[in-house]
Amino acid sequence: MKKILIKNGNILTASENFTGDLLIEGEKIIAIGSDLSPEGGEIVDASGLTVMPGGIDPHTHFDLPMAGTVSSDDHYTGHKAAAFGGTTTVMDFVPFDQPTLKESIQVWREKADSKAAIDFSFHINLSKWDDQVKTELPLLAQWGITSIKVFTAYNGRLRLQDGEIFAAMQVAKDAGLLTMLHAENGDVIEILIQEALRGGKKSPEWHALTRPAWGAVESTLRGIALAAQSGAPLYIVHMNAGGEVDQLQYGRERGLPVMGETCPQYLFFTVDHLRRKDGAKWVCSPPVRTVTDNERLWQGLTQGIIQTIGTDHCPFFYDGTHPIQYEGKEIAIPGKELGKDDFTKIPNGLPGVGDRLPVLWTYGVRSGRITPNQFVALTSTNPAKIFGLYPRKGALVPGADADVVLWDMERRITYGVQVAQHRTDYNLYEGWELVGFPIKVFLRGKLIVDDGKWLGKAGEGKFLPRQAGVNVI
Ligand code: URP
Ligand code: ZN
Ligand code: ZN
Repeated sequence: MKKILIKNGNILTASENFTGDLLIEGEKIIAIGSDLSPEGGEIVDASGLTVMPGGIDPHTHFDLPMAGTVSSDDHYTGHKAAAFGGTTTVMDFVPFDQPTLKESIQVWREKADSKAAIDFSFHINLSKWDDQVKTELPLLAQWGITSIKVFTAYNGRLRLQDGEIFAAMQVAKDAGLLTMLHAENGDVIEILIQEALRGGKKSPEWHALTRPAWGAVESTLRGIALAAQSGAPLYIVHMNAGGEVDQLQYGRERGLPVMGETCPQYLFFTVDHLRRKDGAKWVCSPPVRTVTDNERLWQGLTQGIIQTIGTDHCPFFYDGTHPIQYEGKEIAIPGKELGKDDFTKIPNGLPGVGDRLPVLWTYGVRSGRITPNQFVALTSTNPAKIFGLYPRKGALVPGADADVVLWDMERRITYGVQVAQHRTDYNLYEGWELVGFPIKVFLRGKLIVDDGKWLGKAGEGKFLPRQAGVNVI
């Protein structure tokens, strides 16, 4: 089997930082240390480069039908964009839109398997609760999925009632599944949206004003209280409000098995971005909030209250009437323009899967907010641990998959849509100056990104089945 020696790099993991070598054989890391022999294999000189485990994004939505269109990255284009940004594993949400969970998963596998260019796993939306679902839920691990997402918003579509969430959590706990919560108050949102529309308030900022932070805060506490009463572990997705951090801290300080995830958009942007002329670009649910919320979320990360940073990558074109060039072909997909006269018709979601690591490196690590070890923990090792992929993923240890990123800490770039590889026509970080960028990306020992060159292929990414059992960190 082919061997590759990554030599003399600055090896960075969630807990260590040292100069050393990493030996790969086939798809696996087989040794890590100093002065390793290449054993006849290829040598990659990593002097001056940082060597870290591939990123794991625990929250993506590829090829997701929404609001009369579909998210514009599919399981190939989204994977490719992720890889360019140093991410080698993604975890996508399966919509429960077939009669059974099993069939919904099959449909999503059929969409993903032939396109996947990096490794991937799935969560499933538990958007229905009845006797049949109750019977099927314990079987989920048979299909390699061990995490379910429940919603306290999106009335009439995805939402479950609190009692249903509680009942689902009881079953999930016994089946070794992790419940993930989208925390907002759907009832309040419905009323506020109707009021806003009646008052002619239809601009993008009303998307945020009709989804108040208080709803996210109380719903987070409600979820935590349900975790306490059911004994089931809970993971709050896309934390966006400072008050949610307070609630999560409250729960964790009481020893509850509760964890949380935030996303870059909630660390860097505010409702003021929605007030811009192109504010629709920032429309996502839950919405971006205030500078105070940004700050408390950063604190949540540094204080160990929040465990992961995902992206909730769910991109749409800003102007889907104008095609872009993608791999030499023109493509246009209806996007945010669908809601140009009415915020409720703007497809919700943002691009981000490729931006996550480069943006967080410059504006998280270099700016001194998080340490390099915290960066790896939050974006790779912790998601791997929580979602049952560790140490196959998220670790640089013998036996782990050789998902390895060589990061040039000195590389300076002006970031934006031309650099990011998402299949959309805009980027939230347009014009941001970045220092530090992934140069080489290996997926299970295969070089898939080489200094701006794409060497990956559709179909080379593997589905990662996971085993029942929840690791609370
Ligand atoms: O606006 C977003 N985030 N769309 C994706 C759906 C969700 O709730 O994560
Ligand atoms: Zn959500
Ligand atoms: Zn999401």
